[in-house]
Amino acid sequence: MSAIPRITIAEAGRHAGETVELAGWLYNLRKSGKIIFPQVRDGSGIMQCVCVKAQVDEALFETLKNLTQESSLLIRGSIRAEPRAPGGYELDVTGAEVVQRVPEERPYPITPKEHGTEFLFDHRHLHLRSRRQHAILRVRHEVIKAIRDYFDSNGFTLVDCPIFTPAACEGTTTLFEVDYFEDEKVFLTQSGQLYNEATAMAFGKTYCFGPTFRAEKSKTRRHLTEFWMVEPEMAYATLDDVKRVSEELICFLVSRVLENRQAELTVLERDIAKLEAVKAPFPRISYDEAVETLRKKGSEIEWGGDFGGTDETLLSEDYDRPVMVDRFPSQIKAFYFEPDPERPELALGVDVIASEGYGEIVGGGQRIYSLELLEQRLREHNLPAEAFEWYLDLRRFGGVPHAGFGMGVERAVAWLCGLDHIRETIAFPRMLYRTRP
Ligand code: 4AD
Ligand code: MG
Repeated sequence: MSAIPRITIAEAGRHAGETVELAGWLYNLRKSGKIIFPQVRDGSGIMQCVCVKAQVDEALFETLKNLTQESSLLIRGSIRAEPRAPGGYELDVTGAEVVQRVPEERPYPITPKEHGTEFLFDHRHLHLRSRRQHAILRVRHEVIKAIRDYFDSNGFTLVDCPIFTPAACEGTTTLFEVDYFEDEKVFLTQSGQLYNEATAMAFGKTYCFGPTFRAEKSKTRRHLTEFWMVEPEMAYATLDDVKRVSEELICFLVSRVLENRQAELTVLERDIAKLEAVKAPFPRISYDEAVETLRKKGSEIEWGGDFGGTDETLLSEDYDRPVMVDRFPSQIKAFYFEPDPERPELALGVDVIASEGYGEIVGGGQRIYSLELLEQRLREHNLPAEAFEWYLDLRRFGGVPHAGFGMGVERAVAWLCGLDHIRETIAFPRMLYRTRP
């Protein structure tokens, strides 16, 4: 056994002056005559190593000098503080062992040169090793952790919902149908909301957090067919509670990412000032006002229509933080929204539109709690009553005003990272024309 301790690159700062071993992959190699600079990555960071010909045995120097990109290796040496190095430290090489050498005949396909998007996503299993993708997925992890911390420390119980479901939640046009047993058909869940309403009646405040599916034939930079959504639901709550909680959650996510993921935001060249501006209170406008503003800005939207991606971008232009748009016409919303008592043609729902043109990140609102109205809505939307019997029970047995929302993780991450396209926010994106790798 080697007496040299193995550390991760992230831990290097605590080992300055010590001889250590890193276990990683060759990220890049610079050569300058009698000195070579292998850059090694290990998942926690990238370490610039320095190997001087005169100071190591010849075989080792030759091995490293001819090592191919993404070959796996163990590398040993002493850690030295170097303010000019990206991570602040360098490793002076004393030894190395190649674990698997990538052969010249079939080199690593992703090189520092520019590759097309299709090529990169066809090689997504390798693409994830690159600096930018690594940074994005670390921000995603931070966001997911922060979401859980927020709800866990605010009295919400995590109760996850099924993925095979017998009924539509968000409209029948975007359902993925699955063959179950004995000729039974089920659908991949579009949202855990209906089940959340049941768990909220049991636990008061709950949330579910998992993958959701939409058979959306839209090929936009904001749509995935499989995405992760966090959905809180609260008993004895209203539209205002949804606004308050979603605003608090979003501010918390922004502050966590700014606090813990500065290095990643730098790799992504994110304009930090734009994130720092995201503070409560967010502006709150009505659908009516939004339509008026949009028309003034040249949109062709008519009252009663849903916002397109361009409309959302136009709306966000006026604000330096997310904007909350409430009270949409019921006709463009899902069946379950409580009507506004003052104007029953409007739904007590809210969309939170991210700043900088990233579109809707949160959708939610207050749910119908009258049994009669809910039955009527199911009929209007042609939804099969038998699949919703259990859901109607929630109004038969102690129905109360209740409310909740859903936030798409990938939309939030795209915004926080400042990405052009949502496909980079998830390790293996599923889209209209992509189900591989
Ligand atoms: O507005 P949506 O459709 O709302 C619901 O599903 C509610 N049942 C949630 C609830 O109240 N519990 O979706 C919520 C969020 C959107 O704001 C967006 O962030 C994300 O989910 N989303 C998508 N993200 C990526 N790709 C798609 N195709 C998405 N569709 C919705
Ligand atoms: Mg929505």
